[in-house]
Amino acid sequence: MTNNRTLIVGNWKMNLNVQQASLLLHRLHERIRIRREIELVLAPSMLALQPLSLQIDRRKFRLAAQNAYHIDGGAFTGEVSFSMLQDLVHYAIVGHSDRRHKFGENLDMVRDKVSAAIRNDISPILCVGETQVERRQKETKQVLHDQVTTALSNLTSLDVAKVVIAYEPVWALSSGTDYLHHEIPTPDLIADAVKAIRHHVYELYGKKAATEMRVLYGGSTSASTARGLLETEGVDGLLVGGASLNYQEFSGIVDAAYRMQTASESK
Ligand code: PGA
Repeated sequence: MTNNRTLIVGNWKMNLNVQQASLLLHRLHERIRIRREIELVLAPSMLALQPLSLQIDRRKFRLAAQNAYHIDGGAFTGEVSFSMLQDLVHYAIVGHSDRRHKFGENLDMVRDKVSAAIRNDISPILCVGETQVERRQKETKQVLHDQVTTALSNLTSLDVAKVVIAYEPVWALSSGTDYLHHEIPTPDLIADAVKAIRHHVYELYGKKAATEMRVLYGGSTSASTARGLLETEGVDGLLVGGASLNYQEFSGIVDAAYRMQTASESK
């Protein structure tokens, strides 16, 4: 662990209408206690952000957007800008593989979104990771290099400290329901990728930025795999998809993070 608090982010993706989102939040409130060792972030749909911001216990949870537009305002029909989200969210997921692969977001678009988030005082959770084909062709390190260096290229080292990077190998992401049975990378593979990510940050922004930056793992995490993943060298938290829609699984992940934190503190 490079940072004291474990960061757990639930990405609800395009699931749950406002009522269902509110019910899930209610269940999470009932189930999860305030833990100073853990920072919890929920990323509901754009539509649910506003109502959930009124319902949320801010001592337990922070909110994140799943996406936003890089220009602050103007004739961009259908878009919501980072500046509009400023008072609602602490974080925004940027460059998720769904966006890169299903909506054609390229390296430059991701870079512009990262800059827009920082400009509007929102911490980007920048997702990076290789596809199955890139993995087979042994291009993982190159992919991570290109995604990390381009995304951060308009930032200063002070800005970079506010960025969270999530290593999410595309081949390990669940469909949303098969996360209990999906292949996940070995701890060595995750540790290697996280090390490579920090190395790129170190080369561009120096030691302080590289050590202070939080790096998460994401891809088919569940309550039963959370602890092992969190114990992986260099991993500061988890970006959870499918399992975050199930309050028992998600609170199980939070419990695992808590147990790991308290075990490491008592050493
Ligand atoms: P998953 O999703 O946990 O369902 O694999 C993670 C993500 O896409 O961020």
